[in-house]
This record gives sequence, C-alpha cells and structure tokens, in this order.
Amino acid sequence: DKTEQDRLKKAAGIEAAKLVENGMTAGLGTGSTVRFFVDELGRRVKEEGLEFTGVTTSRRTKEQAEGYGIRIVDIDQVDHIDVTIDGADEVDKNFNGIKGGGAALLWEKIVATNSRKIVWIVDESKVVDTIGRFPLPVEVIPFGERHVLDRFKERGYNPVLRMDGQGQPVLTDEHNHIIDLHLERIEHPQDLAQDLITTVGVVEHGLFLNMVDTVIVGDPNGPRVMTN
Ligand code: A5P
Repeated sequence: DKTEQDRLKKAAGIEAAKLVENGMTAGLGTGSTVRFFVDELGRRVKEEGLEFTGVTTSRRTKEQAEGYGIRIVDIDQVDHIDVTIDGADEVDKNFNGIKGGGAALLWEKIVATNSRKIVWIVDESKVVDTIGRFPLPVEVIPFGERHVLDRFKERGYNPVLRMDGQGQPVLTDEHNHIIDLHLERIEHPQDLAQDLITTVGVVEHGLFLNMVDTVIVGDPNGPRVMTN
C-alpha cells in the first residue's frame, strides 16, 4: 500500500543522502522519492552543518531545497557535478530505466549526462524484468505535435498526450509537452531510443540506458544496493 511504499521510498532517500559530502556539487533529482532525500539533506544541513552546492532538475526541487537553505546554482555555473541522486519510474537488471513520470526528464537527462556518478533511489516495485509497463514519456515541441502523435500511432507506440487536471496539456519546465507511449514491453530499448531521438519535434525521451551507476532499492528488509 501507499504508506508502506512511502516508507520504502523514504528509507532509500535517507540512505542516498549519506553520499553527499562537504564541498561537493550534487545533482538533485525530482519526484516523491527524491523529496524524502532532500528532506534528509535539509536535516543534515541544519543539524550536522553539511555544506554543499546543489544543481536541481526541476523548479519544484529547487524550491524545496532552497527552503532548507541549500545553496542551489545553475548547471552552467559549475564545471561538473560529483554525484546526482534521482528517482526513476522503472529499472531493469541491465540498468536500463524509464524516467519522466514527473515530466522532468529533459533537465534530469542533462544533469545526469554531466555527472560523474549517477544514483537512483526507487522502491522495490520499480525493479522489473522488462521495462515498458510504465508509459514512456517523450518531451515534444508543441508546434506540430499532432503530426508527431500520428507518426507514433503509425509505428504502434500507443501515444497519449499528457493532460493536466484542467484539460490542458501538461507543460514541462521548458514549456514543452509530454507524449506518453503505452508500449507494455520494450524489448529493444536502444533501437527505440534511436527512433525517438531522430523524430523531428522530439526534444528528449525518458529512456536512460545504462547511465546509472548505483540503484538504491527501498526493500522491506532495508535498503539494497545494486551496482552497475
Ligand atoms: C521525474 O520526471 C521522474 O523522472 C521521476 O524521477 C520519477 O518519476 C520518479 O518519481 P517518484 O519518486 O515520484 O516515483
């Protein structure tokens, strides 16, 4: 249930917060699991005097972190990021994952690409044999998106434009839209990634293939670490 899932997410978040050390530049991801992680960093800043610089992957995380007095800078103000801790929607045994359930995949991928180490925090329900049951988010430019949807339909990707509660398309931090692909099973993630990124109008997709170094899994028996 939800309470148990939150307990597992929180345990993974607290474990991951141990990876942030004084003087580091840390990438801070987005989502409900990362929220627990940032809460713990806030506690360490206050109670232990932890000092580090953060680069965030969404406006939401920036607001939360700054609320704790964490110093947040723009990604272009740092030379590199020591470690980025982020959530994920699914991850398989080959360390291929889906991200973007929270619509933050573009900044998440940019931050991840510039990080020396990438760590994901997930609860056990997200570790799967084959990715794809979770709808794959694709960030698209609004101009001409109807035609991108048609292309995806022709290819059998079962695309759905993501809407907010008010009947409007969800807007990303870069003011783009999200198309979710209901694929059920992604057998050839590399081929799919190549097809998506070469479709004009697509900005980025939520396939993060073999990018992550460590996955911390919130498990009922305590946080479990998977190393790539
Ligand atoms: C945000 O766009 C996503 O990539 C999140 O990292 C992912 O959705 C995980 O979020 P939860 O921790 O809320 O499941």
